Amino acid sequence: MESYHIRGGNRICGEYSVKGSKNAALPILAAALLCDGECEITNAPQISDVDSMKTMLKELGCGITAKSGTLIIDSKHITADTISLERMKEMRSSVFLMGALLGRCGSAVLSQPGGCNIGSRPIDLHLHALRRLGVEICERDNLVICRGRRLKGANINFAFPSVGATENAMMAATAAEGQTVLSNCAREPEIYALQDFLNACGADISGAGSDIIHINGGRPLHGASHKIIPDRIECGTYLVAAAATGGEILVHHAESGHLASILQKLKETGCTVRQESDRIYVKACGRLKALDRLITGPYPRFPTDMQSPFIAMLALAEGESFIEETIFENRFNFTSELIEMGADITIKGNTAIVKGVQKLNGSVVKATDLRGGAALTLAGLMAEGTTIIQNIEHIERGYENFPEALQSLGADIRKNDER
Ligand code: UD1
Repeated sequence: MESYHIRGGNRICGEYSVKGSKNAALPILAAALLCDGECEITNAPQISDVDSMKTMLKELGCGITAKSGTLIIDSKHITADTISLERMKEMRSSVFLMGALLGRCGSAVLSQPGGCNIGSRPIDLHLHALRRLGVEICERDNLVICRGRRLKGANINFAFPSVGATENAMMAATAAEGQTVLSNCAREPEIYALQDFLNACGADISGAGSDIIHINGGRPLHGASHKIIPDRIECGTYLVAAAATGGEILVHHAESGHLASILQKLKETGCTVRQESDRIYVKACGRLKALDRLITGPYPRFPTDMQSPFIAMLALAEGESFIEETIFENRFNFTSELIEMGADITIKGNTAIVKGVQKLNGSVVKATDLRGGAALTLAGLMAEGTTIIQNIEHIERGYENFPEALQSLGADIRKNDER
């Protein structure tokens, strides 16, 4: 069982180059299935979720060559339309393959992804959109069997702006004959990135980034080159690591516009924040101040993925913070581990009340999920003494070389304590 061993107390100081976005890369890799040709994806993050997606694409018949952050995907010969239960368990985002497979092969079979550590995560909105495009869906024995040889464009309104459902619908609608209008769409930058990639492949999509997306479907897609956008959540995690440890950081290759809500909240804690073109500078100025209102929400509101790192940071802030989680019901799970480290946190419904304490103590804790695990790592950096983070496979799904990067910024952290 792999773990991180952290001796807390060092400030995070220095410079960091943001990696490619996990949440942009995964749907774009899935969308490469729609193309009858070779796609070159650059700046892909080297994380286990991307490895899992590569494995699944290979199992579906794609040729893949990978050299550091560049992936060449050849989807000319798709040989399967089924995603196994094992793969679905390994990576929930395999659900993106549903829209792409339907668009390419007219069929897709997958297992119900079921709930996960952060919430129940149904896929009803994905299925609703696909049904509107003419897909016949049979749900039985934990399987979702989709058939849609002749997809037809449609007007589809999402009851909630789901990121994954918007992306799945975009992929399937690209292959559907005629016009599709998606409304109440998610507006995340990753949706815009998917539009950008599909258009480079010959699709005709407009509106991504707003809540209405128009797709003129039915055009044949060819291969294309695409550079993955910077990861706004990875970037935010390093900014928070510096703020939480009384340090300062300059991040390069950031897309500061995508982090507006995060930077606003960092300013409210008393940090100095400066943005210039693709760089962001954050410096902690004395003890941070509590936040009396932080509410997660769909983009451009505060991202749910940053809620956990913020809670870890606020554990030592002066005063009482109120954090409301509106997207995933179990995203406070990691706080029980943080409480073990001495944090004063009370959960009332979907609100966490964090009373700033003077210090956190090193402890043995378990990562419960990706962002909760990153948050516990930050808490380990902030704590007195040694912290051991177990179950780090959750963290490595989404952060490339996390301990090495933190080490280069001054942290005393080792994987499996290879001292
Ligand atoms: C994506 C991100 C994830 C991020 C989340 C919200 C990827 C790979 N993952 O996840 O990091 O935290 O957006 O920004 O991009 N819902 C339904 N029915 C559905 C679909 C969703 O009820 O069919 C609910 C979910 O349970 C959740 C909310 O809608 O409460 C938002 O989920 P969604 O936007 O779909 O998140 P994901 O695409 O799974």
